[in-house]
Amino acid sequence: MKRRATITGLGKYLPEKVLTNSDLEKIVDTSEEWIKTRTGIKERRIAAENEPTSHLAFQAAKKAIDDAGISPSDLDLIMVATVTPDMVFPATACLLQDRLGANNAAAFDLEAGCSGFVYGLSVASQFIETGMYDNILVIGAETLSKITNWDDRSTCVLFGDGAGAAVLQATNKGGLLAFDLGSDGSGGKSLYMPGGGSLNPANKETVNNNMHYIYMEGNPVFKFAVKKMGQASIDVLKKANLDTNDVDLFIPHQANIRIINSAAKRLKLDDDRVYVNLHKYGNTSTASVPLALIEAYEEGLINNGDLLVLVAFGAGLTWASTVMEWNKEA
Ligand code: ACO
Repeated sequence: MKRRATITGLGKYLPEKVLTNSDLEKIVDTSEEWIKTRTGIKERRIAAENEPTSHLAFQAAKKAIDDAGISPSDLDLIMVATVTPDMVFPATACLLQDRLGANNAAAFDLEAGCSGFVYGLSVASQFIETGMYDNILVIGAETLSKITNWDDRSTCVLFGDGAGAAVLQATNKGGLLAFDLGSDGSGGKSLYMPGGGSLNPANKETVNNNMHYIYMEGNPVFKFAVKKMGQASIDVLKKANLDTNDVDLFIPHQANIRIINSAAKRLKLDDDRVYVNLHKYGNTSTASVPLALIEAYEEGLINNGDLLVLVAFGAGLTWASTVMEWNKEA
């Protein structure tokens, strides 16, 4: 049997503060009803001032490492997928490596928008399949609230903070079977943060012009997402010689219930095979897929041998999907 990567440990962290739709009514010109019907979101979590992304990642990582029954020094590699790193450099993964005391681990951040966690699983999978590494920590962690313009109702109602972590190890049975990754940089202008990089280095003017916040044209992103979530799921199943009838649970990026529903319709999946926790957390970018996976598992919806499809889209624009046969015991 082929050596594959499988998830053996899971951990999540959500900041305490809850921001509801009715709280948002007091901040911008919006309504509880508009947010619920147009997005499916009811509330989201907001990180405290003293909680940078590395803090959320650390809390989730500790649990995943414990859950896998290993210690931080067993880790060979730490990857943090994020669009809200603590700093441009050093990598948030290095801050985490130090805080965990993972003294044998390489560490780097991975930036592929909201698809980052699934991209991360694919990278980890290559290292494990080749035999180069045995224990890899992949985390999706975000504090999007810190780059959100709270005066912009078209974005501030969508996003939330959180972190989900997974430990990957080798298995001879099941695990991550196939991946489909892609990008279309021509759509990058639909979703970006203009300031703070080498194009528009941070200065008084970039700050006065709000260039340190998320900019999004919702409609093109919506159309891209509907098309790619369905297609990437079909393509990855094909790569594993499977089809949608084989899928026990579809775990999509939690951005908008209308995007999830149209992808599920295209895949002919009824509601009980589609996992949704968007109403509780909003769009947490790279944390969304791991948080959905973890909560589906906690709710007893995932059993050994089940076939799962994880799929995401995001800034870049990017997309990524994977199909896995659940085998948490390795
Ligand atoms: N409250 C009330 N009205 C609003 C709000 C709001 N929060 N936001 C927009 N509107 C208004 C608009 O101004 C517009 O009014 P108008 O008709 O008078 O001009 C009207 O509602 C309709 O606006 P649309 O943009 O057409 O609304 P739509 O139904 O497309 O929903 C949304 C907008 C929710 C943003 C949708 O386009 C979407 O979900 N897009 C995908 C976004 C996404 O998933 N982004 C994340 C990608 S992942 C990552 O990497 C972070």
